[in-house]
Amino acid sequence: MDGKLLLRQAEALLENERNLIPNLANLSALIWERMDRLNWAGFYLTHGEELLLGPFQGKPACIHIPWRKGVCGTAAAKKETVIVPDVHEFPGHIACDSASRSEIVVPLVNRNGEVLGVLDIDSPFPARFSEEDAEVLEKLAQLIVTGCDWE
Ligand code: SME
Repeated sequence: MDGKLLLRQAEALLENERNLIPNLANLSALIWERMDRLNWAGFYLTHGEELLLGPFQGKPACIHIPWRKGVCGTAAAKKETVIVPDVHEFPGHIACDSASRSEIVVPLVNRNGEVLGVLDIDSPFPARFSEEDAEVLEKLAQLIVTGCDWE
């Protein structure tokens, strides 16, 4: 992945628009286009005690994820990126698509420490996601947190 290009294009998409849903829709499409070997890329947004499906690319997915459940709920509760090289080895993994083999989830945390949602990316290949991917996606997460209106 060309991380610098992805981040530059994300900045360009966010430049003249702060509306959350259209921005997340475009950013999921950008990730889908710029990263290879994916079968799902998108967002879950914090909604009370759960994460609710947001804009994404890929097959239809689970709509409700309880806080702390699955990879998404774990990343949200820990406020840390979670890389799962083999989803079959992750206790509590929520299989929305049985083709998924590895996954990365990056929490969207604002400067008050509130988790606004998560960025979830899945691959049908084991160990698809690296620490380098995590670094780029964490920068992307910060662009999203600061570049959109969350109210
Ligand atoms: N696998 C995720 C659920 C979301 S889908 O992958 C799109 C999880 O365990 O949280």
